[in-house]
Amino acid sequence: MCGIVGAIAQRPVTEILIEGLKRLEYRGYDSAGVALLDADKTIKRVRALGKVAELEKKLIESPQIGNIGISHTRWATHGEPAERNAHPHMSNDRVAVVHNGIIENYEELRAGLIENGYTFESETDTEVIVHLIESNLANSKNVLDAVKKTTRQLKGAYALGVISTDNPDELICAREGSPLLVGVGFGEHFISSDVQALLPVTSRFIYLENGDIATLTLKDVIIEDENGNIVEREVRQSNACSLESELGDYRHYMLKEIYEQPQAVQKTLEDRLDINSIKQCIMGDNVAEILKQVEEVQIIACGTSYHAGLIARYWMESLTDIPCQVEVASEYRYRRQVPRKNMLFVTISQSGETADTLAALEKAKKDGCLASLSICNVAESSLQRESDFSLMTIAGPEIGVASTKAFTTQLVTLKLLIGLLMQAKGGQSEAVASLVEDLKKLPVLIEQALEHDKAIEVMAEHFIEKHNALFLGRGDQYPVAMEGALKLKEISYIHAEAYPAGELKHGPLALVDSEMPIVAVAPNTSLLEKLKSNLEEVRSRGGFLYLFADKTSGIAPQDNIQVIEMDEVPESIAPIIYTIPLQLLSYHVAVFKGTDVDKPRNLAKSVTVE
Ligand code: G6P
Repeated sequence: MCGIVGAIAQRPVTEILIEGLKRLEYRGYDSAGVALLDADKTIKRVRALGKVAELEKKLIESPQIGNIGISHTRWATHGEPAERNAHPHMSNDRVAVVHNGIIENYEELRAGLIENGYTFESETDTEVIVHLIESNLANSKNVLDAVKKTTRQLKGAYALGVISTDNPDELICAREGSPLLVGVGFGEHFISSDVQALLPVTSRFIYLENGDIATLTLKDVIIEDENGNIVEREVRQSNACSLESELGDYRHYMLKEIYEQPQAVQKTLEDRLDINSIKQCIMGDNVAEILKQVEEVQIIACGTSYHAGLIARYWMESLTDIPCQVEVASEYRYRRQVPRKNMLFVTISQSGETADTLAALEKAKKDGCLASLSICNVAESSLQRESDFSLMTIAGPEIGVASTKAFTTQLVTLKLLIGLLMQAKGGQSEAVASLVEDLKKLPVLIEQALEHDKAIEVMAEHFIEKHNALFLGRGDQYPVAMEGALKLKEISYIHAEAYPAGELKHGPLALVDSEMPIVAVAPNTSLLEKLKSNLEEVRSRGGFLYLFADKTSGIAPQDNIQVIEMDEVPESIAPIIYTIPLQLLSYHVAVFKGTDVDKPRNLAKSVTVE
């Protein structure tokens, strides 16, 4: 999704901005641009359709130098991907603005501005903001004042970076709904929508809160809150490491991240397990008292994180007496819920910035819940800061748009949560001990699953010409199949659907023919025999099966059945292990098809607009 990088320094900032934009590329975008205040205090703008490399090329052809600048990668919401719609947007060569988010009342504001003589060169909602600031300058004492007046007129979500020839020694930024942070350097300051962008220049960050407007100069960062009071916000030291985001010897981030899963899971478990139990302190102090009172759990998430929630429901209700519901955030946030007093509200998110998930959390807090817990991969993200408790996944930065290691570490973390609930409710020490024992086996079992990579690559060739695929699973493997189907459609653009295998004869069986590959996950669980009958139904109708099956399952390869034999794994962690071959399958299909694996078309890593 859109990314912002801005800088004010005693040195030229163009390279800092371009490097920052490149580090945000993984989030998805269609165009990029930069605006700089040069030595003559005029604004120079360069924009390009496509990748940051295109913008860089233009800047090499006609270099622009300035010590203050703002830049942006755009993911189209209002107006097609085109240079005229790329940010920064400008008004009368006096103000330049970059914006993330969506302005809901932009049509009405645009009509008013047109009446007042402004002409629009783009279809974006952002151009409304820049003209409003320019028009407000007429009766404001400075740019800050004009920005304040403007934000009061806006309805919707925004993170803004503003420069102006009126106050050429200042960079102004504002946040409402969309994430924005200030990077604190020595005699220089930065803004960005994501820590990753600024790691080469600083590791100290101020996370702006909703309603904040900040003025950055070389010396200071002055922040006013939504009531106009000057506030001090904590400067936090980030442990994020710039090198963790390097591609190394891998061809794609997605492959690197698939292969990082044994270590990511290991790190997510580190210091959290005792010999036979889960350390109570991992969720913070006094948590046992809260968990003891939990009578139900509501899980909210989007995309891959939602699938992690669906698997956790199977686990939660089989191991505890606590009812568990799971819903996508975009539905939950607009639906009336019957108030539930002793509900633990759990959000799952890799980025911690997904707009719908954040809105759902806000709603749950308003409606009243016992406590909120975020399961999140980014420390200090909005979700983590706004939840009562958090349990971090320690996956490290995930760059590939298609989520892999974040998903498996979410599952591990959800297991930890379930273990904590079991401990708090008491009387299940043996079951907790067995859960802990299984978790400890995970890194080795994931390594073993990765060993099937070559065989899966061969299997993937069969999918190159296909237009559709069905994914099947039963029980807690059904959401694994959903995740497999999502991965395939995200990066190979093959239409893929997942079904619980028992539901086949209620419709999808009609689709089965030799052109429809059927992928199924078949660990040796209590539902294996049921699944085998479902697979027979497919085979007898001419369907071609691609199976990931336990080597003791008794499923043998035949003419129209390809089988990858998986090592035996404990049923309790089978969803984590069986996710791995599905990730590899999608990856190889996408590579064969030549798609942009890490940045699939139309998608974004971090969805900060609803
Ligand atoms: C986007 C990403 C997905 C991700 C989803 C939820 O759609 O492309 O990979 O699962 O957002 O993101 P979150 O950061 O909340 O997990």
